[in-house]
Amino acid sequence: MNKSIALARNLYLYSVKRKVDFLIIGSGIAGLSYALKVAEHGKVLILTKANEDESNTKYAQGGIAGVMHKPDTYEKHIQDTLVCGDGLCNEEVVRMVVTESTERIKELIEWGARFDKNPKGEFDLGKEGGHSENRILHHKDNTGFEIERALLARVHVHPNIEILDHYFALELLTQHHLGKKVTSRSSDTECYGVFALNTHTNRIEQLLSRITLMATGGAGHVYATTTNPVIATGDGIAMVYRAKGKLENMEFFQFHPTSLYNPDERPSFLITEAMRGFGGILKTIDGKEFMQKYDRRGSLAPRDIVARAIDNELKLRGDDFVHLDCRHLDKEGLIRHFPNIHKKCLSLGIDFTKDCIPVVPASHYMCGGIKVDMNGRSTIKNLYASGECSCTGLHGANRLASNSLLEAIVYAHLSATDSIGQFKNVNFCESIPEWNAEGTASPEEMVLITQSLREAQSIMTNYVGIVRSNLRLKRAFDRLLIIHNETENLYERTTVSPELCQLRNIIKVSYIIIKYAMMRKESIGLHYNIDYAKNLVQISSS
Ligand code: FAD
Ligand code: SIN
Repeated sequence: MNKSIALARNLYLYSVKRKVDFLIIGSGIAGLSYALKVAEHGKVLILTKANEDESNTKYAQGGIAGVMHKPDTYEKHIQDTLVCGDGLCNEEVVRMVVTESTERIKELIEWGARFDKNPKGEFDLGKEGGHSENRILHHKDNTGFEIERALLARVHVHPNIEILDHYFALELLTQHHLGKKVTSRSSDTECYGVFALNTHTNRIEQLLSRITLMATGGAGHVYATTTNPVIATGDGIAMVYRAKGKLENMEFFQFHPTSLYNPDERPSFLITEAMRGFGGILKTIDGKEFMQKYDRRGSLAPRDIVARAIDNELKLRGDDFVHLDCRHLDKEGLIRHFPNIHKKCLSLGIDFTKDCIPVVPASHYMCGGIKVDMNGRSTIKNLYASGECSCTGLHGANRLASNSLLEAIVYAHLSATDSIGQFKNVNFCESIPEWNAEGTASPEEMVLITQSLREAQSIMTNYVGIVRSNLRLKRAFDRLLIIHNETENLYERTTVSPELCQLRNIIKVSYIIIKYAMMRKESIGLHYNIDYAKNLVQISSS
């Protein structure tokens, strides 16, 4: 029986139904900054599946890119973004986002976010790969923590905003739930809200909204090693796909070149690219620099190039990691700029002023996602998307470092402006039946879920990682299909839980990544397929 067409009875004694003007799924930078804007016009409910601050946002290190003053110009930032995107960015979007950067960052500061300044009182702008100027505003090496803190503090005192933590959004409510068949991705699907699992009570609630914003972040846990916290399981992308919304650019998954090599630690701890911007140099473990072989920009080339180069060196040499060497840099400045990384490394016996840091690439950022227009509208009516779960056209085939926090605040602003103009014209859909859990039972063994998760992550890591081939993609597709079918079967007969739903979402997003990767018959940006690898950097086909 299909659980989502809940035409039969409600198994719960008391149904919980709420109605709000604006429903937001996710409490990272995208969800919170949208909330602050629309809350001036109506009631806002934010759902978030873990503690309210748990998000990719909280772990952002390097900072937020923006043009604040000369010698930087909008045109330089635009060109850097376009070059990094390898020809696949939407130039109109790039121009709009970059020229909005100054205004939106000022707003973030007005909301209470603090960014480091130099002794002259100017912003202490950092540099990262692919940037031709210093333009990254940061708060030491924990910029995301500071942004999340400031936004939450503001949200908490707003009378129109309520946050429900440990609420897991399961699926979008659409005409499908009224028994109407929605078959085509170009059809006129409408969003009426979501079904969400309240994990405090273990009950499924129906949350109706005039406007819904998907702000569920990324999907790093599609791979076995990632810098992303455990919440990053692609839920929003999978939900929209199931509801027949359009996705885009799903083959482009960014691997960060430098996560700390510490095999027992999951998620992986990030070593910010800003350390290379500060002068850190990548070397093989015998102390040889290698990046100049791959790109004249050396250790500060765009991420796709650096991650591929490291991957290649590791394969050629049979090493487990490369080194980031900062020993030649000003020790005090290094510790002042990167105090948390210093502390973390010291806890593992690494003093980065005296020792090299062992680093490896890890999955980091989903460049593709829910396709949105320049108002943040998805292809599903009354559903907007913003932040990492969306695909705006800014990143193209590869995201420029520190452009994602920027994209999130710009698109939260655009989505909010458009939503405010729309929401009064939208009526609630009151006739959606309750969730139907008939025929389901508690899982027999949780281990079935954890084993399938490991298998799926290992398929993606082995065959759909930094270097791909047609054969590897086909193998991934065939193997994933088995786990996909097993999981759908399990889902049909098991009471929903976050673990099961996340597994299902990870498998769905993996399947979509593979499908998009198989369709792209070229190597471009983050999608590097050795069967179409001519004209690229010297990468071995191993
Ligand atoms: P998130 O901040 O990830 O928030 C997603 C929210 O959705 C969370 O609250 C989550 O709990 C919730 N959620 C997810 N699924 C569900 C569900 N089913 N039901 C309910 N709630 C759900 N970018 C930069 O620009 N600069 C940087 O310096 C930088 N550094 C980074 C460092 C690290 C270690 C990482 C992991 C990322 C970094 N990024 C950086 C990327 C950037 O942090 C993210 O792209 C951005 O913060 C995403 O914001 P978001 O609001 O879209 O999603
Ligand atoms: C970093 O600090 O290296 C991460 C920056 C980003 O992902 O944009």
